[in-house]
Amino acid sequence: MSQPVPELAERAAACADRLRDAETVLLASHIDADGLTSAAIAATALERAGIPVDVVFEKQLDEAAIARIAATDHETVFFTDFGSGQLDIIVEYDDAFTPVVADHHQPADAETAYHCNPLLEGLDGASELSGAGAAYCVARALADESTDNRDLAALAVVGAVGDMQAGTDGLTGANEGIVAEGVDAGVVREGTDLAMYGRQTRPLPKLLEYASDVRLPGITGDESGAVRFLSGLDIDLRTDGEWKRWVDLTTAERQTLASALLKHAVTRGVPPARVDDLIGTTYTLLAETEGTELRDVSEFSTLLNATARYERADVGLAVCLGDREAALERARTLLRNHRKNLSEGIELVTEEGVTAEDNLQWFDAGTRIRETIVGIVAGMALGSEGIRSDRPIVAFAAADEGEVKVSARGTHALVRDGLDLSVVMREAAQSVGGDGGGHDVAAGATIPADQRDAFVAAADAIVGKQLG
Ligand code: C5P
Ligand code: C5P
Ligand code: ZN
Repeated sequence: MSQPVPELAERAAACADRLRDAETVLLASHIDADGLTSAAIAATALERAGIPVDVVFEKQLDEAAIARIAATDHETVFFTDFGSGQLDIIVEYDDAFTPVVADHHQPADAETAYHCNPLLEGLDGASELSGAGAAYCVARALADESTDNRDLAALAVVGAVGDMQAGTDGLTGANEGIVAEGVDAGVVREGTDLAMYGRQTRPLPKLLEYASDVRLPGITGDESGAVRFLSGLDIDLRTDGEWKRWVDLTTAERQTLASALLKHAVTRGVPPARVDDLIGTTYTLLAETEGTELRDVSEFSTLLNATARYERADVGLAVCLGDREAALERARTLLRNHRKNLSEGIELVTEEGVTAEDNLQWFDAGTRIRETIVGIVAGMALGSEGIRSDRPIVAFAAADEGEVKVSARGTHALVRDGLDLSVVMREAAQSVGGDGGGHDVAAGATIPADQRDAFVAAADAIVGKQLG
C-alpha cells in the first residue's frame, strides 16, 4: 500500500508491527491539539486492528510522568507527540515496557527500534510534520483489507495546523502527502479563501474585527469600523436582523466582500505583501457539519486546546473520536472560557508591556495566566500591536510549587536568521537547574522559581549568539 510520507514508511511499518504483536497498549500523549489528534488517530487505528488500548495524557513527559506510565503495567507504551526528547529516560524502563514513539520533537541521544520521527529522516519537525502526522503514518502502516485508515488524515491536518505548521500557502513538505490522502479519501478539501480565523462560526463583524494576522486600519480591533465597512457594501449581510457568517454567503457575495477588503487594505496603505496574506490556503473537513467549529481545521484545533489545556483532554479526545453530543457541548463551554482567558492574557501583556533585553523581550504573568496557555498568549502577543516581532518573546508563568513555566515564541524570519528556541530553552534552563526543549520557532522550559533572572540572562546571551 502507498504511504503518505515515503521517507517514514519503514519506521512506521516497524512501529505498526510492534503494536500488532502487543497484548495491551498504553497510549500516552501530549495535552494540546496536536497531542489529542495524535492520540485519536492512534487509538482509532489500534481499535480497528483489534488491539486493546488505554489512553493517558501528560502535560510534560518528565521523569515522574514516565515512572507513572511504567507503573501501569502495560507491556507496550505508544508515545505520541512526545517521547523522542525523553528517549534517554524512557529506555531506562526497558524491563517495564517496550516503547513505540511517533513524534516530531528533537530526539534525545538514545535508540528504540520503533521510532517514527521526521527529524530522523532529514525532514523538518517544526514545519513539515506534526505528532499527528507521525501517528498517521503509523496508522496507515496498521491498515489492512478492512480499512485503509485514510479518513484519519482529517485529524492529522487538524494536528499540523494546531501546531502552527501551515503558512499562508498552507501545509508544505511531508504534510502535503497527508493532505493529498485526505482529499482522495473525501474527508479534506483544500481551497483558497479568505485567510481569517472564524469563517465557520463568527458573525461577519466579529470575523473582521478580531482577525489580526493582517492589520486593517479602521477594521481590526474596531467593532463599529467593521460594521461600517460591512454596511457600506452593496450586499445583504443579515438574515432576520442577525449578521451572517462567512459560510452563509454565496460565492458571489464572498467575492464581493473579499474584493472590498483587498481594496480597503490597499487604499489604507497596507503593504502589498501583507495584502496578499488576506487570501490563503484553507482546509475544510467535509464530514463535519457546516457552520460548526469542527468544519474548519483552525477552529477545530482551538476547540481542542480549550479542552486539553484545562485538564479535560478526555473531552477533546471524545470529540475527535466522534462524540457530537455531550462532549461537543462540553467542549464549547470550555471554548468560551478559553477565549476569555486568551483575551484577558493578551490585554495583560499589551497593557503592562514587555521588558526588552539586548536580544529578546519577556514578561512574567505570575499566576495571572495559566501556565498551559501562556505560550499561546506569547505567540499572539508577538503578532500584536506595540510588541516588536523582530526579536523572540519569552513568557513566564507560575507552575507547580517552586517552579516556573517558560514559553518562548519566535517568527519564521528569525529562524531563517539562525534562531533555534529549542536550543535556547534547553541550554538556558539547564544552566539554572531546569530543563526544556521544543522546536526552533516555539519552545518551552521549566525552571526553579528563584532562577528567572539568571535564566533571562542566559537565554539572552544564547539568542545573541544565534542571531549575531
Ligand atoms: O509540543 P508541540 O510540538 O505539540 O507544541 C507545539 C507548540 O508550538 C504549539 O503550542 C504551537 O501552537 C506552538 N507553535 C507556535 N508557532 C509556531 C509553531 C508552533 O506557536 N510557528
Ligand atoms: O508549552 P509551550 O506551548 O510553550 O511549548 C512549546 C513547545 O516546547 C512544545 O513543543 C513543547 O512540547 C515544548 N516544551 C518542552 N519542554 C518544556 C516545555 C515545553 O520541550 N519543559
Ligand atoms: Zn506537536
